[in-house]
Amino acid sequence: MKILLFGRNGQLGWELQRALAPLGEVCALVSRDLTLHADFSEPDRLAETVRTVRPDVIVNAAAYTAVDKAQSEPELAHRINAEAPGVLAREAAALGAWLLHYSTDYVFDGSGEAARAEDAATGPLNVYGQSKLEGESLIRASGCQHLIMRTSWVYAARGGNFAKTMLRLAGEREQLSVIADQFGAPTGADLLADVSAHALRRARLAPELAGTYHAVAAGEVNWHGYARFVTDWARQRGVALKALPEQIKAVPTSAYPTPAQRPLNSRLDTRKLRQAFDLTLPPWQQGVERMLTEILDKQP
Ligand SMILES: NC(=O)c1ccc[n+]([C@@H]2O[C@H](COP(=O)([O-])OP(=O)(O)OC[C@H]3O[C@@H](n4cnc5c(N)ncnc54)[C@H](OP(=O)(O)O)[C@@H]3O)[C@@H](O)[C@H]2O)c1
Repeated sequence: MKILLFGRNGQLGWELQRALAPLGEVCALVSRDLTLHADFSEPDRLAETVRTVRPDVIVNAAAYTAVDKAQSEPELAHRINAEAPGVLAREAAALGAWLLHYSTDYVFDGSGEAARAEDAATGPLNVYGQSKLEGESLIRASGCQHLIMRTSWVYAARGGNFAKTMLRLAGEREQLSVIADQFGAPTGADLLADVSAHALRRARLAPELAGTYHAVAAGEVNWHGYARFVTDWARQRGVALKALPEQIKAVPTSAYPTPAQRPLNSRLDTRKLRQAFDLTLPPWQQGVERMLTEILDKQP
């Protein structure tokens, strides 16, 4: 199997390179690739890349992910998150290739408290969510065989992430305030990549499995609970902290105004994915603890 992967150096792209390797030959590109066009801000030129590589599967881990910045760059966000996946989908359909693509909990308006299933009504609150939703629609309309994985609160050991920021701030300050009214599931890029590889392998043998799936770790938490979990874990391992978990203050979203409005309820129901692909999604704490251990092991 030949796999064309876009977004190689992102949180998810990095883990996909590893997880997809046993499935076949992976051609993994970055936006400024020197040999093949892979810049999503020029969507039409992506067709040439697909036609040159002629993959069996296209995997798209590239996206415009700067949620607040997207509010002032809606055209660019639309090109990268909607038009470019649309071109990949059209080319996949023409080739008879599969497309594996990622979307977000931000396609929903975040009302209520229940976990949403794949067919729940969408209603993005910001430009990023709208652009990702349009990307989904273009993929479905292309007629290509696809898997769209909607996920949330993605983190990776590599690069910056919320847990690292909390550990740094808790080491520097005696007081911290963290939002306590947005709920979701922190999801490791490693878990998401592994789930994707398993799903892709099975879907290629059973094309009726094509479609949209929710893929997040099990359980739920809010950002305040997440920050407390991380700092408590660090304290138990002897990390020096100025702000202890119980000193972290819970505040509402309104305490931190941002250009992009975010959904309060990011809970996603993963039953469809677990049943279709016979997979287990571990509790979010499991992946976060692994990531924290990796970070701590690297510190001098
Ligand atoms: N992060 C989250 O919390 C979250 C939540 C829900 C859904 N998602 C979705 O999950 C997927 C993976 O996200 P992630 O967290 O891995 O994102 P990320 O770490 O921000 O990586 C995004 C990737 O997109 C690439 N990219 C940006 N602009 C590009 C362009 N013009 N042309 C080509 N590539 C471009 C970047 O590549 P270069 O560095 O080479 O430019 C980078 O590798 C995305 O579809 C995202 O929407 C993420």
